[in-house]
Amino acid sequence: MASESRRFCIAILISGRGSNMMALADAVRDGTISNAEISVVISDQPNAAGLEKAEERGIETLVIKRGGRTREEHDHEIIAALRARHVDLVCLAGYMRILSHEFIEAYRGRILNIHPSLLPLFRGLEPQKQALDHGAKTSGCTVHYVDETLDGGPIIAQHEVPVLEDDTVESLAARILVEEHKLYPEAVKQVLTQLHQQA
Ligand code: GRF
Repeated sequence: MASESRRFCIAILISGRGSNMMALADAVRDGTISNAEISVVISDQPNAAGLEKAEERGIETLVIKRGGRTREEHDHEIIAALRARHVDLVCLAGYMRILSHEFIEAYRGRILNIHPSLLPLFRGLEPQKQALDHGAKTSGCTVHYVDETLDGGPIIAQHEVPVLEDDTVESLAARILVEEHKLYPEAVKQVLTQLHQQA
């Protein structure tokens, strides 16, 4: 039975700046993403700048460090934190770790990632540099479901940006980031609409 009033709990995983996390938090706050709340922001890095920004917004934050443990042990603690908060959707936003099979299996179809290229082009690290090195005329950003492949899960949405003659990695990254902040809320809204229909 469809339930219009069901509020979905979103967790956002970060490792750094957290600008995409803030874009999502803004979209939830202003109602662009409705029937949802940001339940928790989790960082593997204690110094992630995004943590303070989330706290300023009154969002619960957790630091769960890898701390010499295996990927599985680390993810196990994260999964427990997500389950304790009844999280429905996990959004990776600059989270710089590969997820274990257990994590992906626990939330299959409910983990999203944003990547600053037009996937399947330029997977992995430094995609903006890869785009420049390959002489790409356009690039952009992609939100996709996370599966066991690196930046290879099913694509949800993309925005394109031009690559300019005099672009540096920084100027291209900045142009893409503007689009990321629009794309991620759009994609989350789309996914939550589907989850509402399934609920
Ligand atoms: C973004 O470019 C995102 O696409 C990539 O890492 C960066 C994170 O930036 N996965 P921020 O922490 O959201 O500001």
